Parts: sequence; C-alpha cells; structure tokens
Amino acid sequence: MISIEQLLEKLQAEIESHSYGENPAELYDPIKYMMSLGGKRFRPLLTLIAASIYTNEWETAIKPAMAVEVFHNFTLMHDDIMDRAPLRRGEPTVHEKWNANTAILSGDVMLIRAYDLLLDIPKERLRLVLERFNCTAGEVCEGQQLDMNFETRWDVSEEEYLEMIRLKTSVLLGFALELGGIIGRADEKSIKLLYSAGENIGIGFQLKDDLLDVYGDPSKFGKQVGGDIISNKKTFLLIEALSRAGGDILADLQRWIAMETFEKNDKVNAVRDIYEALDIRSFTEEKIKAYFTRGIDCLKQLDIDNDRKTFLLAFVQQLVEREK
Ligand code: IPE
Ligand code: IPE
Ligand code: MG
Ligand code: MG
Ligand code: MG
Repeated sequence: MISIEQLLEKLQAEIESHSYGENPAELYDPIKYMMSLGGKRFRPLLTLIAASIYTNEWETAIKPAMAVEVFHNFTLMHDDIMDRAPLRRGEPTVHEKWNANTAILSGDVMLIRAYDLLLDIPKERLRLVLERFNCTAGEVCEGQQLDMNFETRWDVSEEEYLEMIRLKTSVLLGFALELGGIIGRADEKSIKLLYSAGENIGIGFQLKDDLLDVYGDPSKFGKQVGGDIISNKKTFLLIEALSRAGGDILADLQRWIAMETFEKNDKVNAVRDIYEALDIRSFTEEKIKAYFTRGIDCLKQLDIDNDRKTFLLAFVQQLVEREK
C-alpha cells in the first residue's frame, strides 16, 4: 500500500505543475502565489487516502482531490478579505499583497478551475459528485455568512456556533472523504460513514483552529495570532467565556468587545487573560477531543482491512496534534 508521504509528494507535484491560466497575469499570478504557499493539503489527502482504500487506481482521484484543494484555497482568499487577515501561511494575504478586487476575481476563477478539475470523473458518477460538491459549496457560503452575522451578535449559543462551523468548515472535510469513497466505488453505507467522519473531524478541526488562533506559536501558525479576538469572532472560546464569566470579568470582557479603538496587542492579551481565568483552554481541548473521537469512531466502523484502517487513523491523528 502507498504511504501518506508518497501520496503527498504526488499531489504536490501535480499542484505545482498545474496551469490555472496565464493571461492576464494580474488574474492568475495571485492564484499561483496562493497555491504555492503550501498549506497542509490535508483535504485532498483525505480524498486520496479514501480512494486508495477502495481502489488501486487511486491516481484517478488526483484531479478531483486537487479540485477540493483549489476550492479550499478560493474560500481562503475570500475569507481573508472578510476577516481582514494580514497573513496566510506565513506570507501576506492576497488582498494585502495586491488588493481586494484582485482577491475577489482571482478567487472567482479558482472556483471555476475547481469545476474543471472534476470534469474527468466518469460520466456515471459525475452528476452525483457535482450534486454533492454544489451542496457543499453552498453550505460553506451559508456558514461564512453566519460567521459574519455572529460578529455583531452577543447572544450566539454554543449550538448555533457548532452549526455555523459545521457549515463553513466541516462539510468540506466530509465531502473530501466522501469524494474519495465515490471515486473508489465504495458502497453507499461506507460513503455515508466517510462523510460523517469528515463532518465530526471537521468540527474538531475548526475548534482547534479557534484555539490556535489564541494560543498558536506565531512562528508556526502562519496566521496572525489573536486575529479572532481583534475582530470579535464568536469563536467557541469567546462564546464559552461569555457564558462562564460573571461580575467584573464579564464587564471587562464586554468592555473589550465593545471598544472601537484599541491597541491590538492589548486587546489580545487582555482577552487571553480572561480565557485563562475562566479555564477556557482545557474545556476547548476536551471538546476538540470529543469531536475527533466521534469522527474516528465512524472510520473504525468502515468495513476495510486493518492495515488500511490504521493508515487512515494515523493520518487523522496528525490533525489532532497539529500546531498550524
Ligand atoms: C484553514 O484551513 C481554514 C479552516 C477551515 C480552519 P487549513 O488549516 O487546512 O489551512 P491550510 O490549507 O493548511 O493553510
Ligand atoms: C475559515 O474559517 C472557513 C473558511 C474559509 C470557509 P476561519 O476564518 O477561522 O479560517 P482561518 O483561520 O482564516 O484560516
Ligand atoms: Mg473566517
Ligand atoms: Mg479567516
Ligand atoms: Mg480561524
């Protein structure tokens, strides 16, 4: 059986040699820039790993896997405008390096290129893949809008938050795994399990992203640490802090959230101290573990031989332990 390193190497080579277009350069250069910044590539790896479990012809999953990665990078390019983020993968974001109009239009063409990359899927499965992809892509937009709506709301519940991250992040992980199953001609029950695994792992993954946004090591994280605090994102940590805090701590937290002009570092440090006082970190870590465990349980139910299962589980474990 092929190793994860071999899959990643093959995938990287394909991503690097792929042409997204040439003229005008102002449209395509930002795409090349974004796609060459690296990133963990774990969504396309999920597709390739799932496909390789069910078929020896896993190479037929490379282009569809790339479609997932190009789509993901498109969402990041637009997300960075929406989140006013200065850094991505340790480098300036596209709207900072160029401008917002560039990031909008280059992002748009990336979505189109994602569709191009799905075109080689055999005709008898293409319609299903497109239906599932379109459903997923629409849900990601719904999640992103909810994320925006929540920035100015004080009363977001944990349940609403979990639904928002299911939409903005986890459905794409579900789709990435499901796509591998569809390409590998897995049976319907297995495809459903793959999707549920991705959905739960995706929620754990976004919770971890929220945690790293506060506690990440700036030299590893690659994004602006504290960005979510600066923009009043209703992350799991903030929602939990708002529900736990009382008295002076609550007043202090509310004061920082309402403040319109502030030193970014002061706000990040103050809110981080409040999280510490309320023990938010370990509670979030527990929650992350719970969702990953649910996802892993779905994978354990797959009717595949033990070597393949171990292979898949080892990969997911890397996501649990990630620092970027
Ligand atoms: C970032 O995704 C966006 C989220 C859904 C949290 P990743 O953490 O997978 O980003 P890259 O692709 O590795 O840079
Ligand atoms: C991003 O969530 C989800 C999507 C891009 C759809 P975040 O806004 O938390 O992702 P990062 O932290 O910028 O990578
Ligand atoms: Mg965002
Ligand atoms: Mg963001
Ligand atoms: Mg984030």
